[in-house]
Amino acid sequence: MKRNQYIAVGTLVAAIWIGGGLAWQSHAADAGKDAIKEVMKAYHKAPKGVDPVCKRAVDGKASAEELKKLVAGYKTLASAKPPRGDEASWKEKTAKLLAACQALEKGEEGAAAKYKEALNCKACHSAHKPE
Ligand code: HEC
Repeated sequence: MKRNQYIAVGTLVAAIWIGGGLAWQSHAADAGKDAIKEVMKAYHKAPKGVDPVCKRAVDGKASAEELKKLVAGYKTLASAKPPRGDEASWKEKTAKLLAACQALEKGEEGAAAKYKEALNCKACHSAHKPE
């Protein structure tokens, strides 16, 4: 390799390294701020005609892998700060959701009913979702 080729490769490596670092930083910041939205979009919402993961879980149709992700999502919710409303109410609602989903994962009896009750979109949105 000629000297200027070394320089070109070196510049490229540096650019990737810096670019990657910046992307990682902005991602980390987003993860905190939009964590709730991400969980909503990933598990509570689905394109028209497709059941979201939460509905599949209520119906007993979610796979073990989906339930595992759902539990992780609710852990994120439980540790997130609600954009609106009382923190104690948020903790109670998200803890219920998480416990019910963990029961579902373990295949406990009555877990689906418990989960369905905790998964009250309107009750939580009217208290914690910004207008
Ligand atoms: C434990 C509380 C809670 C429950 C239960 C809940 N949500 Fe949410 N949801 C929120 C909060 C809080 C926001 C607002 C997040 C923000 O603006 O940062 C939100 C936002 C959303 C959004 C907007 C996401 C975006 O990109 O802005 C959708 C869609 C949504 N929820 C769907 C649902 C559906 C459907 C259900 C019921 C199956 C549900 N949610 C149940 C708390 C909840």
